[in-house]
Amino acid sequence: MTDFGIRILGTGSAAPANIMTNDDFAHIVDTSDEWIISRTGIRSRRIATEETTLSLALDAAHMALDNAGIDPQRISLVICASITAEQMTPALSCYLQRDLGLREDLLAFDLNAACSGFIYSLITAQRLLDPDGVALVVGSETLSSVTDFTDRSTCVLFGDGAGAVVVERAPLPFFWATTVCGDDESLAVRKYIEMDGPAVFRFATDALCKRVQEVVDQVGCSVEEVDRFICHQANERILANAAKQLNVPLERFFMNLADFGNTSAASIPLALDEAIRSKQLERGHSVVLAGFGGGLTSGAIYLEY
Ligand code: COA
Repeated sequence: MTDFGIRILGTGSAAPANIMTNDDFAHIVDTSDEWIISRTGIRSRRIATEETTLSLALDAAHMALDNAGIDPQRISLVICASITAEQMTPALSCYLQRDLGLREDLLAFDLNAACSGFIYSLITAQRLLDPDGVALVVGSETLSSVTDFTDRSTCVLFGDGAGAVVVERAPLPFFWATTVCGDDESLAVRKYIEMDGPAVFRFATDALCKRVQEVVDQVGCSVEEVDRFICHQANERILANAAKQLNVPLERFFMNLADFGNTSAASIPLALDEAIRSKQLERGHSVVLAGFGGGLTSGAIYLEY
């Protein structure tokens, strides 16, 4: 907890035009729509054809800046969370500075914390923001570039997309909790995504419940008092199990994973933007953002929208 938090000024998101359904997967691997929906809740995902991690990040950032309605020259910090940038350097955030015409005297860097990347980035932004500063925080991924489309146990889970937020420093509550445990067996991306699904499932449910509880304990409220939960969109059963263990109605967990699958660092800002546009998250609502993923990393943030 610090004596200041952040105000979300605007959000944006972007996704490739191409939709790949569960039935499309049934043509390339031994799977079925019924299996995928019942185990994950995913019905379709977007798979890039022309789009890139950078183009998606730019589209989401443009939308977030438009919605924030601020002079882009006020941006003093750019953080882009991703594990699928097209190149090692320049960082995606450097291209964002150039292509959005942002000023040059800013801090711009990419951050890799896998599917917790957006949570880690927003915490970093809150800690680095100057009193008058404004930050652009983006999560963007083309996971299709690291997906083995012959491996049915992983290929049906992931998708491509991006989300962005523009935030400023503000006297609002901001509490956070993170962990990392250095595990490289359960989930890793070398050439392709490699995963021990059941182990990650157990870790994810446990990490989600613990991080959510840790942030609400810091706030001094109960989990039931939180208006909305916007969590990493990996699997509907993980979110349903967490809601049950935390004893909150699943309706408070915003979900769009049925249409996008798991988009790693993009999933939370993509869900946040959709929750705001569909008015499921409104001004004055308290919200917990929570993520978990490779590393193994996990994190949660309590803030007021
Ligand atoms: N279609 C049909 N069958 C499939 C399949 C698919 N797409 N993928 C795996 N299976 C099969 C397995 O081969 C296995 O068959 P077997 O019993 O003959 O060996 C069977 O389904 C059960 O596999 P298992 O891995 O135990 O299934 P599960 O119920 O644990 O579900 C996941 C698999 C991947 C859906 C689940 O473990 C999961 O969601 N884990 C978390 C993954 C995640 O969210 N990762 C990202 C975190 S950031």
